[in-house]
Amino acid sequence: MNSAPAAVKVQDIPFSNEDFRSLATLAKSQFGLDLAESKKPLVYSRLSKRLKARGVSCFPDYLSLLGKPGEDAEKFELISALTTNVTSFFRENHHFETLRDEYLPAIIAKVQKGDRARIWSAGCSAGPEPYSLAMTILDKLPNAHNLDLKILATDIDPKIVEKARKGTYNVEELKGIPQTFQNKWTKTDPAGQTFDVSDDLKRLITFNELNLISDWPFSGKFDVIFCRNVAIYFDQPTQQKLWKRFCDLLVPGGLLFIGHSERITGPAMDQLEGIGITSYRKGGIPAAGTQE
Ligand SMILES: C[S@@+](CC[C@H](N)C(=O)[O-])C[C@H]1O[C@@H](n2cnc3c(N)ncnc32)[C@H](O)[C@@H]1O
Repeated sequence: MNSAPAAVKVQDIPFSNEDFRSLATLAKSQFGLDLAESKKPLVYSRLSKRLKARGVSCFPDYLSLLGKPGEDAEKFELISALTTNVTSFFRENHHFETLRDEYLPAIIAKVQKGDRARIWSAGCSAGPEPYSLAMTILDKLPNAHNLDLKILATDIDPKIVEKARKGTYNVEELKGIPQTFQNKWTKTDPAGQTFDVSDDLKRLITFNELNLISDWPFSGKFDVIFCRNVAIYFDQPTQQKLWKRFCDLLVPGGLLFIGHSERITGPAMDQLEGIGITSYRKGGIPAAGTQE
């Protein structure tokens, strides 16, 4: 249990360069986050609120608190403060169009003959990305639930995974969803403030917590990986390792989609061909007819 916080004023909390460097070292080793020196003011503004909430008056004390057993929740508060959860339905819609037009027919053929297909939304935030994937699939394959096709949606932040699992959003977020999809898979509350995504979408998705820079618990391969606007927080060596791990996890011909400001560099480049903006295909025979 956390003890009741003593009153601490944010403006009284000092933040030296050494404090920043210690924090950056921890963020890098535990979460792969790359905190550039230029982010110091942003980090201070976000984290000093955490110190205040915990009644801690300086950053060295906050760092030692983070190292104590039972402080996992605070670590997740830390990562929430250092990253952003910004997301939306059908964000960068060209990725969903590429998936629908270029690759979904092969996935459909594959699962219809009894093979498995897996799609991963890695760094799914509050869920609009995997739910957009589920809508794209169910629109073309209404009986997907009866076939061996699943979407895995993961994020490091347990609170955001819980929100994703719940699938309740502000009505403002409906605007990204095509009207026909809204009619099929969303239900607005009587007060018109929020909407829920349908169980049909939820049943296609498994939500889990997962730190992308730790070990991954997968035995099978993936046909499609969406990892968008996540690696942007990692330094280049961490990004390159991640691209390579994704590449190794894809079936031959599988697709990788990354965020608009991210670029593939490093060893994965030898295995991936660009098929559109921030869209890549792993070299090898296409998915239709293959089984890993
Ligand atoms: C900006 S959101 C991107 C959401 C979605 N992919 C999109 O593009 O709309 C970034 C997400 O990455 C998650 N994240 C950051 N570091 C991570 C890590 N090491 N492992 C897994 N997820 C991480 C954050 O919690 C956040 O939800």
